[in-house]
Amino acid sequence: HGHGHGGRDDLDFQPVAPNTEDRVVAPRGYDQGVVIGWGDPVLPGAPRFDFANQSAAAQAMQFGYNNDFCGLVPLPRRWGSQDRWLMVSNHEYTTESFMFLGYDDENPTREQVEIAWAAHGLSVVMVEKERRGGLQVRLDRHYNRRITVNSEFEVTGPAAGSDYLKTSADPSGRRVFGTLNNCAGGVTPWGTILSGEENYNQYFANADQVTDPVTKQRLARYGISGGASGRRWERFDDRFDLAKEPNEVNRFGWVVEIDPLDPDSTPVKHTALGRFKHEGANVIVARDGHVVAYMGDDERFDYIYKFVSDKRMKRGNSRYAREYNKRLLDSGTLYVAKFRGDSPADEIDGSGQVPSDGEFDGFGEWIPLARNDRSFVDGFTAEEVYVFTRLAADTVGPTKMDRPEDVEPSLRSRKIYAALTNNSQRGNPGTEGPTEMNPRPANRHGHVLEIEEFWGDNTARRFRWKLLLVCGDPESPDTYFAGYDKSQVSPISCPDNVAFDERGNLWISTDGNALGQNDGLFAVPVEGRERGHVKQFLTVPHGAETCGPVVTDDFVLVSVQHPGELDGASADNPLSHWPDGGDSQPRPAVVAVWKD
Ligand code: FEO
Ligand code: CA
Ligand code: CA
Ligand code: CA
Repeated sequence: HGHGHGGRDDLDFQPVAPNTEDRVVAPRGYDQGVVIGWGDPVLPGAPRFDFANQSAAAQAMQFGYNNDFCGLVPLPRRWGSQDRWLMVSNHEYTTESFMFLGYDDENPTREQVEIAWAAHGLSVVMVEKERRGGLQVRLDRHYNRRITVNSEFEVTGPAAGSDYLKTSADPSGRRVFGTLNNCAGGVTPWGTILSGEENYNQYFANADQVTDPVTKQRLARYGISGGASGRRWERFDDRFDLAKEPNEVNRFGWVVEIDPLDPDSTPVKHTALGRFKHEGANVIVARDGHVVAYMGDDERFDYIYKFVSDKRMKRGNSRYAREYNKRLLDSGTLYVAKFRGDSPADEIDGSGQVPSDGEFDGFGEWIPLARNDRSFVDGFTAEEVYVFTRLAADTVGPTKMDRPEDVEPSLRSRKIYAALTNNSQRGNPGTEGPTEMNPRPANRHGHVLEIEEFWGDNTARRFRWKLLLVCGDPESPDTYFAGYDKSQVSPISCPDNVAFDERGNLWISTDGNALGQNDGLFAVPVEGRERGHVKQFLTVPHGAETCGPVVTDDFVLVSVQHPGELDGASADNPLSHWPDGGDSQPRPAVVAVWKD
């Protein structure tokens, strides 16, 4: 295990070469199949997908649009097979110009808007391993589930019931309809799914009619400004109109938890994890049993956070233990990360050259923001820390990062890996320039950061950090692959999601490849002699982003999000025909890849 196999890492596939093909390209000797895609039935009795005759009622029973995160939760053994899972997919957003022929973005119809509401959210689908190696969907009556913009959520944790969360439809501040822009996520040790509400700002209209200066400043810090929203939902539901419902927006931007094994459960929005543009959340159980969630706020110059629970996880699968564990993320301490480099500032000159001590590295600390009803931030109540987390964090001096996407602990090493996808604005006038932890100005290709908590204790207040990768073309002097021979590695650009295989290798999916090639999925050992040896495992169709990787010994799952989303493309002019071929419209989908 680990360093066995003659010093190899079991990543014995031939790397896939960069390309711009309109298909998924996997290594030689691997097979692939679409598991499920936009419009495919999720609930029994769902109509077959018919692009030209869509309806909101059909969409609410079918797989939603633009699947991002994908997670597998094993079914209890009483199902008699270990090869069945509940697959949970996030439907981050809709692209109406790809969904509807002749779409008029200034005048959407009510039906189009209602289809988009039903195409957001999450899908829970039972999947089963096929004989030939892929995964097959089962239209299970009990477990399969769709969550949409109209599904009820319960708000829990310290800000539940806050005045900031009350609306005319919900004077309790505890019941929200829907989840929006669910990007990445994680499977918890107790078998539930966490999902991050990310760019929810885009759904809310008429911030320019808000006059209260404090409210305006809060909206601005979350990127909410202007008049009409892109999708014009405010015309069909007042809650998306800030001039009519100023607090509805505060009910989004949370980490949500859903329990796929209990299909009647109400999903939860966890206020204890703070409110920002949550990329996702990933949990590890610390050695003393407290659970720790790591999280990124995906915006240029925003922060990395962690949450440490007050209570300890209960082991076992009893109903009592599961219900107890589902409350662990409701009380604890929320922290934001501050990083310090250990090399002289003049060695971080923006060239990307590794400092003379051989590493981009240093120390860091987790600055506490709030614990339940107690605020640690001057000028902010605890409730305000939780609801306006970005503004509270701004006052305590955390490190401005290059767009923190997925942040995930390795369950094997307890180290944490963060994808910092890019930051085209670093070093622009009025912004922070290169630092040891974000060493490139106008960072187009991103980097991958490794954090090791003191004493391997995930609840610790201090940590060491290193850059594992500074991404881009390995022939460029401003890239770094943990010191590995750069002539042997695959080019990689814009890391987004991270995952681990059963041997502890890191897998990285990309979004927005700035080298002009298709996005893809990469594997890299993080320990031993092969550390830094990045190999491309697959590429996705042109215009698509690779997300949600799930890596098992038997198969790899990837979400292919927004295939064919290229300049000038639309449903009237599709530039991708993946996955159905011919002259079909492209459909976002989940793909399985396995060894032939
Ligand atoms: Fe939805 Fe940060 O990617
Ligand atoms: Ca250093
Ligand atoms: Ca992402
Ligand atoms: Ca992204």
